[in-house]
Amino acid sequence: MDTSVVSASGVTTKDHGVDVPLPGGQSSYFNFYWLRDNCPTSFDTQTRERTFDIFHLSREPQPASVRLAGEALEIIWMEDGHTSRYPLDWLSQYGEGKRRQDRADLPRRAWYADHYPDIARFPQPKLKEDRREVVKWIEALLVEGVAILTDMPDSDAALTETVRLIGHVRPTFFGEYFDVKTHINPTNLAYTAKALELHTDTPAEETAPGVQFLHCRANSVEGGMSLFLDGVAVANDFRKEHPEDFRLLSETLIPYYCEHDAYDMRSRQRVIELDEHGEVSGVTISQHMADVFDLPQTFLDLYYPAFCRFGRMLQSDKYVMRFRLNAAECIVFDNHRIVHGRSAYSATSGERHLRGCYADRGEMRSAYRALTTEGRFK
Ligand SMILES: [Fe+2]
Repeated sequence: MDTSVVSASGVTTKDHGVDVPLPGGQSSYFNFYWLRDNCPTSFDTQTRERTFDIFHLSREPQPASVRLAGEALEIIWMEDGHTSRYPLDWLSQYGEGKRRQDRADLPRRAWYADHYPDIARFPQPKLKEDRREVVKWIEALLVEGVAILTDMPDSDAALTETVRLIGHVRPTFFGEYFDVKTHINPTNLAYTAKALELHTDTPAEETAPGVQFLHCRANSVEGGMSLFLDGVAVANDFRKEHPEDFRLLSETLIPYYCEHDAYDMRSRQRVIELDEHGEVSGVTISQHMADVFDLPQTFLDLYYPAFCRFGRMLQSDKYVMRFRLNAAECIVFDNHRIVHGRSAYSATSGERHLRGCYADRGEMRSAYRALTTEGRFK
């Protein structure tokens, strides 16, 4: 049986926690373990890490006294006499199990085939000088999933220093960097002059890389147009038009592979990816890396029609943006959201060279939070 004690200041003490009246007028419940663990003194102000160890408590923490002291909840703990003070504004952020606010959790804005003139553009030298520009660049990547950097120096180092503005170069099983130009012994369609169908990169990795950089060093060939589309825009429309198909593609793990003489990568991914709010965060699509679907054949009676409907929708003119990537431009995009490809080109008509690499989305969001001064101690 729960025994409740109401104090003069309106705090109700229960068996395992307290009901606290908060500034908004509502009351919220907080558990004693949680309160003891998150006493402001639990965190080291220099390292910013938690130094309190909840595991050393011999039993459930219980208060000797609980009261409101000004704009704070004050608890004196029975076990060691330690006093904890929690600002009520701070408590309000966690009442009712609310998630901690995250500035990097920005709503996505879907875009369509006509997006090219509106793509966010940033001169690379300005990004290096002004962190406010870096903030805007990351915002574009979080909200629209794509941005173009202009005035890139024609050097290998330029790409590395650009990535370092938002994180580190994240290797894949192909290595740290890749060069998209015609190769003599290609291991990948990208290294030929043939058309490259719409795809996201390296889905055969357990976690495909998050942010992709393609630095155009030369592009004087006939053809070779870049094709980009917003997977979120397509999947959102697909959800409205074919809800049952959407469910299949967002719940079913399908196999991807990438195999050659020295590697045999395999993974399972969902074609449509949802975020923690149930919103579409992106897609994983790659015809050339989709493995044999080893799912029950009767299930495939349902899955294949849905998969093909989605694949055809992706290729529709409503979504596909076509443009020429120019020398000294670097297109940066969310590899879990933006589906890309290339039309065929004539290898003898000129030179085409894109140098690419990846960075991690988590690191990019971390850079955004740090640049916008969010944090426990700021
Ligand atoms: Fe690619």
